[in-house]
Amino acid sequence: MERILLIGSGGREHALAVALASSPSCSKLWCAPGNPGIAREAELVSLRISDAEVVSRFCREQNVTLVVVGPEQPLTDGLADHLRSEGIDVFGPSQAAAQLEASKGFAKDFMARHGIPTAPYRRFGAGARQDALAYVQSHALPVVVKYDGLAAGKGVVVAATTAEALQAVEAMYDGVFGDDGIVVEGFLEGQEASLFAICDGERYLTLAAAQDHKRVGDGDTGKNTGGMGAYAPAPLVSQEVRQRIERTIIEPTLAGMRAEGQPFVGCLFCGLMIHNDHPSVVEFNVRFGDPETQAVLAVLSADVAALLASAARGAVDTSTVASVAVGFACNVVLANMGYPDMYEKGAAITGIDRAEGDPMVTVFHAGTTQNDDVLRATGGRVLGVTARGTTLAEAIERSYAAVGKIDYATKMFRTDIGRKAL
Ligand code: AMP
Ligand code: GLY
Repeated sequence: MERILLIGSGGREHALAVALASSPSCSKLWCAPGNPGIAREAELVSLRISDAEVVSRFCREQNVTLVVVGPEQPLTDGLADHLRSEGIDVFGPSQAAAQLEASKGFAKDFMARHGIPTAPYRRFGAGARQDALAYVQSHALPVVVKYDGLAAGKGVVVAATTAEALQAVEAMYDGVFGDDGIVVEGFLEGQEASLFAICDGERYLTLAAAQDHKRVGDGDTGKNTGGMGAYAPAPLVSQEVRQRIERTIIEPTLAGMRAEGQPFVGCLFCGLMIHNDHPSVVEFNVRFGDPETQAVLAVLSADVAALLASAARGAVDTSTVASVAVGFACNVVLANMGYPDMYEKGAAITGIDRAEGDPMVTVFHAGTTQNDDVLRATGGRVLGVTARGTTLAEAIERSYAAVGKIDYATKMFRTDIGRKAL
């Protein structure tokens, strides 16, 4: 039986907490730091998760058998390495392997070395502002400008005009995110999908493909966000397309990371562009996606605790999974007005119980705070309303019916999640 510590505090971690807590092989679940929704599934502990020694001491004291790391930052900071050096099993990659997400330049160079399909690119270091400006000036449009380091999903500008691209280069070199340099790449046409592979360093299992909605506004308008809603499985990823993704992207990535001495253990998140049934990599992430996970786990029938533990121990066990996709799930993110820029904070939330009156609905907490009896909307993304259905249309309809029952003064959401797939 697993005694599991889950790290993180968002909607993704709430979805993981529900899946882990209901796993036959999980006997105890803690979450640090967690949130008011996760508190229904796990015992919350207020550990300083940026301090690896604090986390490993807790694990030793409580006989934790598995640590599941939700967000990218602790992985990039080397939390998994420290815990493994203490003999604690971790679902999540080493600091070296986490570069696939932490440095877009690293990921692009890696894909180039291993012939993995992705957009053509040039990488510009911290001191190369003038070179980057000159390159962008002569690049075909649209052109994509990306900050090379972590930027919470906000470091990418798809520029339709040269002026916009130049402005993006200047802003990134002016240090809005830091001084890691940039990547400039060609524009990929097609439709986006997210595919998660549960990896043990060598073998893997892919979960249901999902489609996120990155832009803040209906019809994919406005700024890029962390994600405004998702559904799974995405019909765009047929059996044939999935096999192509596995052969041309996931397998060479796992083999390449092994060959280079940094095997990948954890969730390899392939952010893909699919054009005429041919996939290319838009980005890699080294953890579960948010909000995709809320839909992907909703359709997964598995002992998730046993699945992640087996991957963490170097032998992913596919017998822990009964089905990767039972029906469909749709997740609609409720945000705070103003997100992804400055947003209003602190409105009182009502109606979650009513929304969850439908047994096919789960309301995941992403950015909430509980003060006495009042639940408040304190994050950019506040809640993730997820519904299951036997068809995608049914899942969408159920999730929007539930969204209508939840109320707070600064509520904001997209009204078209999943519509493109119908
Ligand atoms: P990323 O953080 O790299 O996933 O980029 C955020 C979003 O920007 C992606 O989800 C795409 O919608 C868009 N994007 C990034 N790179 C490209 C590209 N090369 N071509 C077209 N769209 C892109
Ligand atoms: N939804 C995209 C991400 O988790 O990065």
